[in-house]
Amino acid sequence: MSEAEIQQILADAQNAPSACNTQPWQVHIASGETLARLKNKFKIRAAEGKFTPDFEFNQAKFLGKYEQRWRNQYEHVFTTSYGIAREDKAGRQVVYDDNFAGYGAPHMAFLFMPKVDNHDVNIASDLGMYSQTFLLSLTARGFGGIPQLALALFADDIRKELAVSDDYKLLHVISFGHPDWQAMQNQKHLGRVPLSESVSMHW
Ligand SMILES: Cc1cc2nc3c(=O)[nH]c(=O)nc-3n(C[C@H](O)[C@H](O)[C@H](O)COP(=O)(O)O)c2cc1C
Repeated sequence: MSEAEIQQILADAQNAPSACNTQPWQVHIASGETLARLKNKFKIRAAEGKFTPDFEFNQAKFLGKYEQRWRNQYEHVFTTSYGIAREDKAGRQVVYDDNFAGYGAPHMAFLFMPKVDNHDVNIASDLGMYSQTFLLSLTARGFGGIPQLALALFADDIRKELAVSDDYKLLHVISFGHPDWQAMQNQKHLGRVPLSESVSMHW
């Protein structure tokens, strides 16, 4: 992707709605040597087991129907896509390595949010709007992207490399570029639960 193409995506995403039009997204794009340095750092940190996320995420806290869904997703990724047997620990590492490498994407967008007392939830909601607009723009223009919480595990290293102040917290990262439609991860999609499980109509 050229810089001009990335600028178009950014211009589209900039139209995302936000509460009181505060536009609380602070976005850093990394490509080329900067991204190579970051990916190398992610690899090292993952091997050390040194993670510094700004926000907790633990899927094990999602119970009931939500647990069923994340377990289905794990099964889909590890078994259906990668063909890894349940007991194959080394095989599972390949999935984590791919994740930490942004699935080979040549660009990453790091979505930072400002610290505003007691407003993390609403600011994160605005960044979610931004993120989806960014993803839709990529798709509409023939590119593709994946939002990744896995990369937000390296928030301290990312802030350091990109000279971002500690006043900004990293929500998530979008890896993007030209999708490889032949890749196994792009062969099958998990789909979604029926509308009736998510929506109640009152009329
Ligand atoms: C906030 C957010 C974080 C995500 N983090 C990751 C991630 O770290 N690694 C990954 O492979 N996919 C990640 N995903 C993608 C989801 O796993 C994916 O959207 C879901 O499994 C449904 O698959 P589909 O969108 O391909 O249909 C993330 C999605 C969102 C919205």
